[in-house]
Amino acid sequence: MTLQGLLSSKMTPLGMLFGLLMASCFNFCLSHQNLNKFALTNPEKSSTEETEKRESEAKEKLDLEGLEVFYPTDEWQALRPGQAVPAGSHVRLNLQTGEREVKLQDEDKFRNNLKGSRKGKRLDVNTNAYTSQDLKSALAKLKEGVKIEGSKEDKARQAEVKRLFRPIEELKKDFAELNVVIETDMQIMVRLINKFNSSSSSLEEKIAALFDLEYYVHQMDNAQDLLSFGGLQVVINGLNSTEPLVKEYAAFVLGAAFSSNPKVQVEAVDGGALQKLLVILATEQPLATKKKVLFALCSLLRHFPYAQQQFLKLGGLQVLRSLVQEKGTEVLAVRVVTLLYDLVTEKIFAEEEAELAWETSPEKLQQYRQVHLLPGLREQGWCTITASLLALPEHDAREKVLQTLGALLTTCRDHYRQDTQLNRTLASLQVEYQVLAELELQEGEAEGYFRELLASISSLQRELR
Ligand SMILES: *[C@@H]1O[C@H](CO)[C@@H](O)[C@H](O)[C@H]1NC(C)=O
Ligand SMILES: *[C@@H]1O[C@H](CO)[C@@H](O)[C@H](O)[C@H]1NC(C)=O
Ligand SMILES: *[C@@H]1O[C@H](CO)[C@@H](O)[C@H](O)[C@H]1NC(C)=O
Repeated sequence: MTLQGLLSSKMTPLGMLFGLLMASCFNFCLSHQNLNKFALTNPEKSSTEETEKRESEAKEKLDLEGLEVFYPTDEWQALRPGQAVPAGSHVRLNLQTGEREVKLQDEDKFRNNLKGSRKGKRLDVNTNAYTSQDLKSALAKLKEGVKIEGSKEDKARQAEVKRLFRPIEELKKDFAELNVVIETDMQIMVRLINKFNSSSSSLEEKIAALFDLEYYVHQMDNAQDLLSFGGLQVVINGLNSTEPLVKEYAAFVLGAAFSSNPKVQVEAVDGGALQKLLVILATEQPLATKKKVLFALCSLLRHFPYAQQQFLKLGGLQVLRSLVQEKGTEVLAVRVVTLLYDLVTEKIFAEEEAELAWETSPEKLQQYRQVHLLPGLREQGWCTITASLLALPEHDAREKVLQTLGALLTTCRDHYRQDTQLNRTLASLQVEYQVLAELELQEGEAEGYFRELLASISSLQRELR
């Protein structure tokens, strides 16, 4: 039986997809003696020896008439070429390693599955749909392997490899014959939004749809497309869900979609995203939900003075203050302080820049001038709050707080001067970092991390004298 025949007669659609990729590989492999020059594995991770072993095993397996049956467990396990799996198993193609992986279906663990699957983009049998992106990256992986494994001199062979790889269009035709749909990103997003928006979808399905959507909206064009067909608003409304998980993953998608995407940011503010995010932060919610929501809020506010104005008007600073003062939210406190630092410095830089470019963009300067951030921070006690956060034990938290204290210096100087606790904290940190900077120096690190922290502490102390 030929390789092609074997693959197409005994395998599932995913198997066939894999088979096509394998076949385009093996056409080449079998026409050359040196099998280990060409592998479906990640060349960085596996030694040549392992690759060689696997490849010869693969060859043996493919030569066999019958298929070995593989019994999946709860864990993802690599499937070797030629192995068959029982119906109902969950199969994915790990595009990072090029291996097919199998496990038992387990709906309860969907959250862990989501996390695991993000590590390697999967081709999921259940959806029966593969994107052109999936295929391209799968092919890119194959080609990459060749490039790394092939010797420099051997240009001729590389050309041969190129010739043997079938062009993507040809592959698409084969997939079409197999009834495997290749969707555009837009079609995928519409499908995911419909899944999420449908009242007949389970919670698991909704979360999975959001999780997958997040991957697509990182691309600016995709996020704007999401906006164009009303999908963005559906996700924003997801923040209203009574399910904390839906809120969490909706915020996860929004954070990615807003990121440096002014068009989407504007629509989101008009669509009420800001209020909804603040309501979640102001009410009792799981920490994981608040983390993602805070991330979405940062993404929405960055480089968008109009959103910053609205944030201040809606009492955003009070919301963040309550958040920081809650017990057990130190992780969030550091992120909040970082957000404030970013906003303060962004405003300063933007105003400087806008002043220089005043003639070309007077509106921008106007907008930033209307963000009354520093007076708000001072009135609402942020001078004291940020100073107290310097007591956090982690170095990187202290680093963030020190930066922020520096940025707030002109606004908070008199507060800081009267803050005896801050004075004591600075003095004890100075002692601590002198020791650490000394050790760092002994290890040959002249411009080290601790030395930098020590310098920020000393400069603050000088300023507060
Ligand atoms: C979401 O569902 C609602 C009600 O079922 C429907 O009116 C709306 O058009 C849907 N939105 C999208 C973008 O599909
Ligand atoms: C979402 O909830 C807010 C109150 O938290 C409410 O004012 C708003 O109308 C709700 N929006 C939708 C689309 O359900
Ligand atoms: C701050 O501490 C230093 C010693 O580290 C002390 O000399 C100084 O008087 C203190 N200042 C205030 C305002 O407490």
